Amino acid sequence: GAPAELDVSTIAPGSLVTVEWRGKPVWVLHRTSAQLAALGGHDGDLADPQSKEPEQPAYAANATRALNPEFLVLTAICTHLGCIPSYRPDAGAADLGDDWPGGFYCPCHGSKFDLAGRVFRNVPAPRNMEVPSYAFEGSKLVIGI
Ligand code: FES
Repeated sequence: GAPAELDVSTIAPGSLVTVEWRGKPVWVLHRTSAQLAALGGHDGDLADPQSKEPEQPAYAANATRALNPEFLVLTAICTHLGCIPSYRPDAGAADLGDDWPGGFYCPCHGSKFDLAGRVFRNVPAPRNMEVPSYAFEGSKLVIGI
């Protein structure tokens, strides 16, 4: 299918935009500096903090799982049975626990992911969420190249 394009300069910090590519939803999240800083604080709670399983292109195999750390590009599909998780950036959310650092929550069976799409331990989802292939041309994000 054709690539999907999006001008990321229109996304406010902390906001998430969903685009469709090849029939799947893809999230583009403009992470704030606080959200980026918080990513390093819970490695011990994650199943695969270094994302050693190859759920991302080689250029996103890094601490933020992104080409440009400010912008998370993630296939919006839970790696358990394919539901679409909810964006829950609210650290310490009452229903998700005091230690919830902000991330994505799957309402189907309760899987939790952080703001790099890394899965927490002891949830049904077996793997981190997938990062699709993409590139930036200035502020234009091109998904699917
Ligand atoms: Fe997400 Fe089961 S589909 S937890």
